[in-house]
Amino acid sequence: MQLYLVTGAAGFIGRSIAAALLARGELVRGVDNFITGKRANLNGLEAMEFIEGDLNDPRVCAKACEAVDIVFHEAALPSVPLSITNPIATNQCCVGATLNLLMAAQAAGVRRLVYAGSSSAYGDSPTQPKHEGMLPEPISPYAAAKLAGEHYLSAFSHVHGMETVVLRYFNVFGPHQDPTSHYSGVLAIFCRKMLAGEVPTIYGDGGQSRDFTYIDNVVHANLLAASAPAEKVRGKVMNAATGSRITLNDTFHHLRRLTGFKGSPLYAQGRAGDIRESLADITLAQKLIGYEPIVGFPEGLRRTVEWYRQSEEKSHAAQAYPSLEYA
Ligand code: UD1
Repeated sequence: MQLYLVTGAAGFIGRSIAAALLARGELVRGVDNFITGKRANLNGLEAMEFIEGDLNDPRVCAKACEAVDIVFHEAALPSVPLSITNPIATNQCCVGATLNLLMAAQAAGVRRLVYAGSSSAYGDSPTQPKHEGMLPEPISPYAAAKLAGEHYLSAFSHVHGMETVVLRYFNVFGPHQDPTSHYSGVLAIFCRKMLAGEVPTIYGDGGQSRDFTYIDNVVHANLLAASAPAEKVRGKVMNAATGSRITLNDTFHHLRRLTGFKGSPLYAQGRAGDIRESLADITLAQKLIGYEPIVGFPEGLRRTVEWYRQSEEKSHAAQAYPSLEYA
């Protein structure tokens, strides 16, 4: 039986991949340093072997990679604005950690490493949709760091013959995404705020668009990338998205309906490093791994709002009755 390693297993995307693997009866090991990951995200993943540790420590990487066949590398500091205030931390968590992991994976004989790339690699070029043949143009330290990770994968694929696969995620959202930080993804922030009756802030005029991708699609793409024939995917970079886009203003209106929020957003100055339009061409993933989005944006948003609504209710109940446990 194959052993899978999920890095960032206590994070939103990592825990979702781990849950899908466990549901298929696979053997899974997870690693996380809890910088952005949450212990609560491990609830339901008890069948996963878990290592608490930082991938910047080569010993943690060596332990994590031991006897592993396939790695899903999701650990990162996923935020554009955070990377602007603290590029060194972003570099350590996205580049240094990736290089350490690759070295350990190579030493341990890991067969395949599937990497969480980012749509930010495309930068702010007006060409839409973004396809993998375009020259990357990172405009934030986060984008540069995630792209550097891609290049390290490519190097390890060439030099050591490791089966490396990059999936460039486009604005992933869904259950378990942390809504509490200033650096959280916009949909997580908006869901939490609007359900609580708080006014969300739109940076810029709200006309910026994103290919918001529901988590199940990204999990699906990862599982396909892990099992596709090596000759199709080794060293490849593929978009993982839906191939459709929506503006932030339109998203706000969808959420207004789903949450029952009655107010208007607050508009504030646009963020540095922000991209105007982001839309993926998903033809390559369709061709190489047979990927098709399985949950569209409206349904994904509905499920996400429902999940935040229920977790909010549970946390209120838990505060009222602290002795009860809510998984
Ligand atoms: C970028 C990447 C994405 C990556 C993510 C990691 C692009 C196109 N996408 O996402 O692939 O996974 O970084 O963090 O580069 N916003 C508000 N109000 C808020 C929060 C955000 O208006 O309270 C706006 C932002 O200014 C931005 C949009 O919402 O225009 C999306 O922001 P966010 O969710 O942080 O993701 P990106 O920066 O687009």
